[in-house]
This record gives sequence, C-alpha cells and structure tokens, in this order.
Amino acid sequence: MARTPVILDVDTGIDDAFALLFAVRHPDLELLGVTCVDGNTNVDQVVANTLKVLDAAGAGNIPVSRGAVRPLLGQSHYAEYVHGADGMGDLDGPASYRRVDQRGAVELLRDLIESSATPVALVPLAPLTNIALFLRSFPETAKKLQGIVLMGGSASAGNATPAAEFNIWHDPEAAAIVFQSGVPITMYGLDVFMRPGISAAEAERLQGSSDPAAVFAGSLISAFIERIGSPVTLGDAGAVMAVVAPELISFQNFDVVVDTSAGPARGQTICDRRPRLELEIEPLRLADSANVRVALDMDVEAIRQLWLETIDSHWN
Ligand code: RIB
Ligand code: CA
Repeated sequence: MARTPVILDVDTGIDDAFALLFAVRHPDLELLGVTCVDGNTNVDQVVANTLKVLDAAGAGNIPVSRGAVRPLLGQSHYAEYVHGADGMGDLDGPASYRRVDQRGAVELLRDLIESSATPVALVPLAPLTNIALFLRSFPETAKKLQGIVLMGGSASAGNATPAAEFNIWHDPEAAAIVFQSGVPITMYGLDVFMRPGISAAEAERLQGSSDPAAVFAGSLISAFIERIGSPVTLGDAGAVMAVVAPELISFQNFDVVVDTSAGPARGQTICDRRPRLELEIEPLRLADSANVRVALDMDVEAIRQLWLETIDSHWN
C-alpha cells in the first residue's frame, strides 16, 4: 500500500513529540516535513525541541522550518506550566547539530505540497498561525491537500478558558481562516484528546527498550509524571493516528465556527449539534453545510496499543 504523505505543524511540546515519533515510525506514513510555530513556547525553542525529537527518532533528514513568532493578532501565551520551562519536559540531553531549513514555514508547505505525487494530509498540532498564512499566501496549492486533520477545539468544554481549547484560543483569527477555507477538516479536539494515556509502568518499560526512540518517549513520559502526575495523555499523537487508523475513532459532521469576539467565548469552536428537524422554516445555520468532521469517541485501548507498538519495535 502507498504511504500517505503528511506534514506536521507543531509547537513541540511533550505530546507534539509523541506525534512526531509516531509519524516518523508508522510504516503507512511518509513524513515530508515539519513546520514550527509559536505556541506552547516560543518558536526558536519549538525548533530546537523538534530537531531534538527527530534526532532521537533517527530522522535527521526531514526538513524542519521556522514559522510565525506570534499570533496574527494579540499576544503569545505560553504553557510552561504544562510543558516545562523548555516547552518539552526539561529533559537534559544534547541540542541537535542540525540546521533549520532555509525556507520559512509557508514556503516549505508550498514546496512540499506542490512536489508530492499524491495529495498530502496536513496535520497541525498547534495554534493555526502558520496554516492561516499558508492558506492566504497559496490558496491554489491548498486545493491540492487531501485534507487538514488538526488537534484543536472542542465540541464541549475548553481548557485554556471554560470555552476554548488552547490551540484555537492562542490564535482565533487564524483558526477562523482555516475553518472557513473549504479544505476538508477533521477536528481532533478535547472530546477525545485526554483519553488515551500512558502509565508510569509503561513509561518505565519504554525506557528499558533497546530502541532509542522508545527510550526518548519513555523519558519524556516519566519526567512529566514526576512533575505533574499520571497517566500522561498521548494528546497530539491522536490526531496523527486519526490519519492512519480512522476506524478506531468515531466522528460526526457538524457546522463549526470559531468565536473571534473579545468576550468570554473567544476561541471557542461552536459546533452545531442540534438535531436536524424537518421544519418549514430552517433554523439559522452556522455554515452552509456540516463543514467539519469532529472526533467524539474512540477505542482507547486500540489507540494506546497502536502508539506503543509503533514507537517501540519490541513492544510485543
Ligand atoms: O490544548 C492542548 C494543548 O496541548 C495543545 O497545545 C496541544 O497541541 C497540546 O500540545
Ligand atoms: Ca501541540
């Protein structure tokens, strides 16, 4: 079977690291490149963290580019309280000797999508600033995408605020551009994000593996458990797994719009979950059609096993 070409847009991030390792390792995926954006931490730290993860995965040849340094409007809000002072668990270890790609994120996205023989799945795991800039810069290239499978949003409660999930709240205007773009969108949000977790015992087992990528993942998880507690969610990695194993996840299509007001709902992904009734006068819709495929449930154990088996070649 031909591999699906993917590009990840990241703010690495502990769970972005889980996603990167999975994308490098899964045999049905071809990771074409990685673009970095301001999010969990500043973009230069994101680049450094991303290169470190790819080194650990033995994937030093994958192009990594630096993208937006702040949201389209407003200020950055970093999440060191979750991801540590360096944005990735404060693990020791050498910095990567690799250089970042000379192209900016938007140009790298254009080049990789244009030169791919088959349509690319774009997987943003971070605030959508780079993706909005790309859509505005190269709309014709965007039409060649297979789709966007993003970690972000929620059809229920938020985490950054009662209403909004962090990635969307960090740059709501960018998110609004992406959701209105017409590119097929899958939203892997907080309704499923926290569900697949890795325990302390599993992290210890990964650390004892002879596979360097597994050891790296195990160390990240153990460090996180020491700081915050267990289990650790696979988080962003779930969105990449939604590309290779959609059958393990239940989706429903909804009209979704992003609240860009200055009020308490700023950054909320408002999902129209009202039942469709046959009424003479149609109720007001948020969008012209149910425009987003929203992940609502999953086979948690199967997702967990898929990640563990992919990261550690000796897991079974
Ligand atoms: O809202 C959850 C946050 O943690 C997001 O930034 C997500 O991408 C993860 O890194
Ligand atoms: Ca992330």
